[in-house]
Amino acid sequence: CGIVGYVGSQSALEVVLAGLRRLEYRGYDSAGAAVIADGGIAAAKKSGKLVNLEKALVDQPLPAGATGIGHTRWATHGGPTDANAHPHLDNAGRVAVVHNGIIENFAELRAELAGRGHVLSSETDTEVVAHLLAEEFSGCADLAEAMRLVCRRLKGAFTLVAVHADAPDVVVGARRNSPLVVGVGEGEAFLASDVAAFIAHTRSAIELGQDQVVEVRRDEVVVTDFDGRPADVRHYRVDWDAAAAEKGGHASFMHKEIAEQPRAVADTLLGRIGADGELILDELRIPAAELREVDKVVVVACGTAFHAGLIAKYAIEHWTRVPCEVELASEFRYRDPILDARTLVVTVSQSGETMDTLMALRHAREQGSRVLAICNTNGSTIPRESDAVLYTHAGPEVAVASTKAFLTQLVACYLVALYLGQVRGTKWGDEVLGVVRDLADIAGAVERVLADMEPVRELARSLAGAGTVLFLGRHVGYPVALEGALKLKELAYMHAEGFAAGELKHGPIALVEDGLPVVVVVPSPRGRSVLHDKIVSNIQEIRARGARTIVIAEEGDETVVPYADHVVWVPVTPTLLQPLVATVPLQVFACELAVARGNEVDQPRNLAKSVTVE
Ligand code: G6P
Repeated sequence: CGIVGYVGSQSALEVVLAGLRRLEYRGYDSAGAAVIADGGIAAAKKSGKLVNLEKALVDQPLPAGATGIGHTRWATHGGPTDANAHPHLDNAGRVAVVHNGIIENFAELRAELAGRGHVLSSETDTEVVAHLLAEEFSGCADLAEAMRLVCRRLKGAFTLVAVHADAPDVVVGARRNSPLVVGVGEGEAFLASDVAAFIAHTRSAIELGQDQVVEVRRDEVVVTDFDGRPADVRHYRVDWDAAAAEKGGHASFMHKEIAEQPRAVADTLLGRIGADGELILDELRIPAAELREVDKVVVVACGTAFHAGLIAKYAIEHWTRVPCEVELASEFRYRDPILDARTLVVTVSQSGETMDTLMALRHAREQGSRVLAICNTNGSTIPRESDAVLYTHAGPEVAVASTKAFLTQLVACYLVALYLGQVRGTKWGDEVLGVVRDLADIAGAVERVLADMEPVRELARSLAGAGTVLFLGRHVGYPVALEGALKLKELAYMHAEGFAAGELKHGPIALVEDGLPVVVVVPSPRGRSVLHDKIVSNIQEIRARGARTIVIAEEGDETVVPYADHVVWVPVTPTLLQPLVATVPLQVFACELAVARGNEVDQPRNLAKSVTVE
């Protein structure tokens, strides 16, 4: 969910709505806002996207006020109805609260409140907080203190932001596990899930730590822990450009972010490869001696970032000879994995706040492992709680389905693998130096792929009516196939599956029938030619059974031509780096197919970009 709070001299409603627009990627099942006006609280909320709320506010405007809060929701407890939308108010309508996360003991608190005569009108876990805050405030007349008292009673993960009609110049926030940042302006202050919500007003921000409560007024920010002890605050300047969070003439953020990939890849490499091909990653802050002691690497991540992790395994094991496991973060800690001080756990996360990944990282640290975060969001929770971080420099990614962040995650994974190889002195010969040189030039290769995407778009449009699309790959082409299928599910809502091409004959080939589109990622015929020849045989097997074959192949690889209904050429790269160029046509394919089916690509149904619940 996305949260905004404001106190200042502008119209709070306008600031809050503009902020919510920037946060809509975090959830868009319903939206709402509340302002303090005329001695009371005026609130509006609507199911569906933010635009529904905006329309409702045109018909029934709220009175003007300079203190307000807002919320855009990704439903957890209770369906996406008007009643379940935030803000939630207490019975007297004096307190309004917005919340991101899950309050695990809400049923107990609800029963307790009902016992004291409170009437709860939604199915959410959030509403209990409004009622508890109202009770505590009536005892102490201090909203921050009331928030601290309530937080001490809550279990689970939460960011809360609240206002009270009897404290009209204050907005209060609290956080445990879910994100909240403070924006400090001139005579105004902001609270938000992400700096994007206030970047148009101020670049000055404060990070809130775990279990802290913040009280903001026009000219004052006070941070304490849940017991009221003052906390150290860390100010920082937001270096993201406000323009980077705009569409800049593109049809959607997805189009823009796909197009930005050469830049994102180049920025992520910047300053990290030296003139002689040595990796410069001192920023990792893990001493080389410790990296030499590592006897196992475990990569944990979710969604698209997990696919980057799968590719990292091929690179890490090949270049360093250190065993590497890759696991979905949501499965990791529940399996009681074998971890110790010699295990290096690598988390991969665009947002740095995915709850599954955060919990996996905490589990790993409890077991004594070192954790290295690969992350795109400066100062977010996952890098903050890790021993080391390697930032990807993709810039803000707004479209829910990940594109440029994925490519930069791959680059970061390669850098980590190469660096591990470098400090351990494993296989550091001409082959690896060649790879480093190719990596340094890879942004140009991505650019060349993007320059020639019209045939892919045309193909996508011709498949708008298809029911299923399969994706096949071997070696690093296998995770690329999984990512191609995921993009198609997310954006086009189509049944899409990725398979290891060699596994096809063990089951999935039964799905192949006349006209079924199958995308096949073919590795380079050079180097690992056995791999190449095997997959060319797989193409023949499916073609013989009627599949319409769409082949992603390296420029000049004529061997695929006789078996391909369509060929998409990608530049020559070392096999391990091929995902950087082979994924791009699959992103374009999914995006175009979704548009052809009338879907909104930036905000696919049921999804959210940052999933801050487990
Ligand atoms: C959500 C998004 C995915 C993303 C995944 C992991 O499910 O919809 O696009 O890959 O979270 O997100 P992270 O921020 O940890 O990379």
